[in-house]
Amino acid sequence: MRLAVIGSGYVGLVSGACFADFGHDVVCVDKDEAKIAALRRGEIPIFEPGLDAIVAANAKQGRLSFTTDLASAVRGAEGVFIAVGTPSRRGDGHADLSYVYAAAREAAAALDGFAVIVTKSTVPVGTGDEVERIMREANPGADFEVVSNPEFLREGSAINDFKRPDRIVVGTTDARARALITEIYRPLSLNKPPLFFVDRRTSELIKYAANAFLATKITFINEIADLCEKVGGNVQDVARGIGMDNRIGGKFLHAGPGYGGSCFPKDTLALVKTGQDADAPLRIVETVVLVNDQRKRAMSKKVLAACGGSVRGKTVGLLGLAFKPNTDDMREAPSLALALALADAGAKLRVYDPEAMAQAKAHLPDAAFCRDAYDCASGAEALVIVTEWDMFRALDFRRLGEVMAAKTLVDLRNVYSAEDVRRRGFAYFGVGVA
Ligand SMILES: NC(=O)c1ccc[n+]([C@@H]2O[C@H](COP(=O)([O-])OP(=O)(O)OC[C@H]3O[C@@H](n4cnc5c(N)ncnc54)[C@H](O)[C@@H]3O)[C@@H](O)[C@H]2O)c1
Repeated sequence: MRLAVIGSGYVGLVSGACFADFGHDVVCVDKDEAKIAALRRGEIPIFEPGLDAIVAANAKQGRLSFTTDLASAVRGAEGVFIAVGTPSRRGDGHADLSYVYAAAREAAAALDGFAVIVTKSTVPVGTGDEVERIMREANPGADFEVVSNPEFLREGSAINDFKRPDRIVVGTTDARARALITEIYRPLSLNKPPLFFVDRRTSELIKYAANAFLATKITFINEIADLCEKVGGNVQDVARGIGMDNRIGGKFLHAGPGYGGSCFPKDTLALVKTGQDADAPLRIVETVVLVNDQRKRAMSKKVLAACGGSVRGKTVGLLGLAFKPNTDDMREAPSLALALALADAGAKLRVYDPEAMAQAKAHLPDAAFCRDAYDCASGAEALVIVTEWDMFRALDFRRLGEVMAAKTLVDLRNVYSAEDVRRRGFAYFGVGVA
């Protein structure tokens, strides 16, 4: 089948590459000329494990190509996927849909023959109706169906998530659209992903409800961690103890510095706004947003306490800057709020991340960017694990002890056992563990 994917970022590029890998003929579009030029040279603009190999193989076999010319990609396509960004709108926190609407308008003009317009971007309920209205206005004679197909992939394991999803949610009640979507995803049938067909509005809501629920789980265990610190108790064991209950499940119950990334912060906020506009306020999600916002900066207090109450003039090393391991994505990363708070308190920052250094530099102009974990720890009164990259899971404590000004580890991801670290002569501060 011929497919066009509009927007070649984390979602568009992964989707396009995987669809091509299924055997479809895919053109990925982006208005960012530098991004398209890089992709044509075989360079992947983002860090996502395994993506380079899939892009290279499919580009070589002629099933995957890149262009800035949206019209040429859409002409003759049976499926047009919209995967552009939907960031928080400046000023009010609603999802900014201007990129989605611009892509829809431009695509409408180029349509010839029946096509499904598939919204993969995360969009508020009712957006499909507006996309349809815009497209009918732009090209009254066009034959198309607007379908919602939210994406659930996670950065860092995006290829596997896309190829082996728990479910594929499709919002349409149109028989032709249903048949086309089934055909597009047919190559996945070996992996038996349930195609879950619902109406378009329900599909749009499923994506937000899923993200808000996961964000709530994280925030819940973070507050339990705070309680553990006050009253005694180990949050990791609490999480395990409740997670063994199938009704609860053990995932997304890792206490830490608060959720970040390109999705949860903006999606929880957008859902809150939708609820308020619809006179159905989502009080739980409102609280989650508030608690999480405060938490990221509050993590600096842990570092201050570990440094004897003040960091003024002291060097602090931050290990891991990306919002989670295996990505270079810095959007809403907890490291940013923490770094700013520590700088406000007078700390000198040394930082290191295996993949996100280039992205982080613009955000942290005053920090010293280091070669590796040991360079980052050099002269530090405290070393803080902010993002749990695998390479930080087996640090050489003897080496750290030799270069640090004080042997103090603040482990915001509970990577290490307190007992182990203390046995090596370090002071240890975790989250929700004594
Ligand atoms: N990143 C994730 O893990 C993830 C997961 C699930 C869903 N989503 C959702 O998918 C959508 C895309 O997210 P992302 O992280 O891939 O964003 P991104 O910022 O990485 O990529 C978006 C791309 O769209 C391009 N673009 C914008 N307007 C365009 C237009 N009119 N024509 C062509 N290209 C255009 C931009 O230049 C950019 O390269 C968002 O709605 C997001 O919420 C993201």
